[in-house]
Amino acid sequence: MAARCCGCSVRCCCWLLVLTLVALAVTATVVFVRYRNGGQVFPLPGVPDPKYAEALAVALQFFQVQKSGKLVRNEIPWRGDSALDDGEEAKLDLSKGMYDAGDHMKFGFTLAFTGTMLSWSVLEYGDAMRAAGQRDAAMDALGWIMDFLVNAHPSDDVLYIQVGDPKADHKCWERPETMSEKRPLTKITTKSPGSDVAAETAAAMAAASLVYKPINGTYSSSLLDHAQRLFAFADKYRGSYTRTFPELSAYYNSTTYQDELLWAASWLYHATGNHSYLSYATGKNGKEYADLGNPRYFSWDDKRAGTEVLLSRVSFFASDGSDVGQDEGLGSYKDTADAVMCILLPESDTAAFRTEGGLLYVAEWNSLQHPVASAFLAAVYSDYMSTSGKTELTCSGKSFTAADLRKFAKSQADYVLGDNPMKLSYLVGFGDSYPQRVHHRGASIPADVDTGCDGQEWLKSPKPNPNVATGALVGGPFKNDSFIDDRENVRQNEATTYNSALIVGLLSGLVSSSSVAQSLS
Ligand SMILES: *[C@@H]1O[C@H](CO)[C@@H](O)[C@H](O)[C@H]1NC(C)=O
Ligand SMILES: *[C@@H]1O[C@H](CO)[C@@H](O)[C@H](O)[C@H]1NC(C)=O
Ligand SMILES: *[C@@H]1O[C@H](CO)[C@@H](O)[C@H](O)[C@H]1NC(C)=O
Ligand SMILES: *[C@@H]1O[C@H](CO)[C@@H](O)[C@H](O)[C@H]1NC(C)=O
Repeated sequence: MAARCCGCSVRCCCWLLVLTLVALAVTATVVFVRYRNGGQVFPLPGVPDPKYAEALAVALQFFQVQKSGKLVRNEIPWRGDSALDDGEEAKLDLSKGMYDAGDHMKFGFTLAFTGTMLSWSVLEYGDAMRAAGQRDAAMDALGWIMDFLVNAHPSDDVLYIQVGDPKADHKCWERPETMSEKRPLTKITTKSPGSDVAAETAAAMAAASLVYKPINGTYSSSLLDHAQRLFAFADKYRGSYTRTFPELSAYYNSTTYQDELLWAASWLYHATGNHSYLSYATGKNGKEYADLGNPRYFSWDDKRAGTEVLLSRVSFFASDGSDVGQDEGLGSYKDTADAVMCILLPESDTAAFRTEGGLLYVAEWNSLQHPVASAFLAAVYSDYMSTSGKTELTCSGKSFTAADLRKFAKSQADYVLGDNPMKLSYLVGFGDSYPQRVHHRGASIPADVDTGCDGQEWLKSPKPNPNVATGALVGGPFKNDSFIDDRENVRQNEATTYNSALIVGLLSGLVSSSSVAQSLS
């Protein structure tokens, strides 16, 4: 017979205990938050907003769709093992990682950026993700990327930055499970540098080391060690990977590499607390390369706006009078982050262009990447403001609040989720109406068909995809808010893994009205 306590079974008793502990923890946190904010009360990550929570659950599934390698607990019925021999020619296991988009390339530059953004999202909004039941899914995706990046860095000054030949890959229309073409490797070395891709990989690993710190110390230290060695390599052997390999500039052309060096140094500062990384970003390099004072958009190519927000974190939360708080260079980053926020706010005098439907519009190819990335930064910045109690933002004499930034962030998320002139959700699998012909090889070919390289009939078919690429955030609308759901319309209808990382960050920020932790470590 089961032991009894308070008139019920052991299991019931445990639940009572758990509930009591949870209640105590919540009370303690409320008291702590009040204390920390000088008596001001900010909402705790509370009941998740059902719309954003559902969208977050949908968005995270795209990482399952994009996985390469031997799948574990696969829940996507039309996906299976693929690319098991990736890395073999260098005797490395590069089978994990994720396919970049509707193709089967593994591009290190955007894959690492995906890892950095996932980590940043977990670091700021891990509690909100947990409340929505989605933190494990985010961690699973992050681990799959990090395992690949670790294996891609076999020695100090060698990093494998690409698996597959983009020309050969893009010529074939086939499922990843039946791929047969060669998967050559590309690596950077001291003689063939790639500071941008090495530094982005360092940023991803430094950020992930913070995520793993409380849960897996060994893995966290190993990631941090890789990150520091990669940063040293990136900084010492300078050059852009698309200048080293000009044939790759047709895919993800890296305009400069200095922005990634500053971004990686900022992440390494957060991960190590070592001031030499902070002075790297705020000193001479920052003055020369950060173009402080000029607001920009954050993207896989340009990390400056992201660096400004990430470093402003230090300014927001530095204790009064600390050396760090007085750092002049850091102040310029914070001022530029303010200017970035000012161009995002529609009521500000420096507001950037938006479409009639209200979408921030920067570029036609993959048009949603900029509004979604900007909205993520706005959500984060708004939470830095409310958590630190520094609640006012001034844009050319006009005053704005954290709530104004949050409103902008929501407006962009709502547009993406269907509140737009097309009444279409650009997040595949969310809502009643979303693109049916996403440019995605695996989704467009029935799971039991082996096309070899020549499955073009499935590319050209006018029919909807037989498989749903759940969680894909497609490129998005034209400047006139219109969209053409055609599989060959790659500008508008291709999904990318990094797009999904950006929307995951944004939705995690909106799931609850949250504050952020004052320290990332
Ligand atoms: C830590 O991470 C490594 C690498 O993913 C894994 O092999 C190991 O089992 C993890 N350890 C724990 C305690 O979770
Ligand atoms: C890539 O970027 C470099 C540097 O901005 C530029 O000079 C070059 O024309 C670009 N190449 C392509 C193919 O866009
Ligand atoms: C800080 O980082 C620099 C650059 O990597 C290194 O030379 C130095 O030893 C580090 N300092 C500490 C205290 O770890
Ligand atoms: C919207 O813009 C696209 C691309 O510029 C154009 O092809 C299309 O005809 C426009 N649609 C409308 C309704 O104006």
